[in-house]
Amino acid sequence: MTQTEYKKIVDAALEESFKGALSLPLAGLAEAMRYSLLAGGKRIRPILVLEFCRICGGSIEKALPVACAIEMLHTYSLIHDDLPCMDNDTLRRGRPTNHVVYGECTATLAGDALQAEAFGTILRSELASDRKAKCAAYLADAVGLDGMCGGQFLDMLGEGKELSEQELMDINSRKTGALLTAACRMGVAAAGGTERQLDAASFYGAAIGAAFQIRDDMLDVLSTEQELGKPIGSDEQEKKNTYMALFGEKKCAAMIETLTGQAKSILAEAFDDTAFLDDLADSLAVRTN
Ligand code: IPE
Ligand code: IPE
Ligand code: MG
Ligand code: MG
Ligand code: MG
Repeated sequence: MTQTEYKKIVDAALEESFKGALSLPLAGLAEAMRYSLLAGGKRIRPILVLEFCRICGGSIEKALPVACAIEMLHTYSLIHDDLPCMDNDTLRRGRPTNHVVYGECTATLAGDALQAEAFGTILRSELASDRKAKCAAYLADAVGLDGMCGGQFLDMLGEGKELSEQELMDINSRKTGALLTAACRMGVAAAGGTERQLDAASFYGAAIGAAFQIRDDMLDVLSTEQELGKPIGSDEQEKKNTYMALFGEKKCAAMIETLTGQAKSILAEAFDDTAFLDDLADSLAVRTN
């Protein structure tokens, strides 16, 4: 399957989410959740779930709820990341941010609800109980105190301060790397893959995750609002520590190349059919949005 084909399957499944609540008293909240969830987005995390599931011999159909779940979780993180108390951004996925349209209270609740629904979506899926329990546990680890939320906390704490390379790497592996790693691990778990496959998936996820945030920091400086669908210059405005500020464009590009190479070489040790994930890593290294 191509990246576009995977994205189509994911988009179609997400389109069905929370439809039933659109005419009830909760319509306003369901609408806000769907507004951000269906605004577009590259769907990288669900695509990783589905492809890792496939190369471990699992059923893409059965893993689809798990793929949708991680996109719900990711969308929640974006809604909250954009709030005035956090990065204070007004554009996301080419549209005004959730709080700009629905207000801060509803945006906060839309994020909260998307997080709970993500876990519910995994636990209500048709996967075997042990597999869905693993998927939920990997996701919880990636998001909680020691994961994305912890990373967002440290990111906020570091604003306006000079951090070391190690400190910046640590923040970014939590705030961004953890969820991308979880996507790969959840794909393996959905298929009932081996420990060796899980380890390789974890390493690949961590490496492309690190490269992903370096590229994100580059684009915040080098891209345009039109191309990115979110504001540029946001990091400087919020006095963030970024790879661009610490290392500059050339070193960022070199780091991405190294990480992408590492990601691909570890995959080859545990899987035969790596063409899609090799291409995905390469395309993320030079992505423009
Ligand atoms: C943006 O994630 C936030 C980061 C973790 C850097 P994506 O670049 O995957 O955003 P969408 O989902 O495509 O909008
Ligand atoms: C955010 O990193 C990572 C998340 C946990 C959402 P950024 O703050 O750099 O993400 P963007 O640039 O707003 O998408
Ligand atoms: Mg942020
Ligand atoms: Mg942000
Ligand atoms: Mg950014």
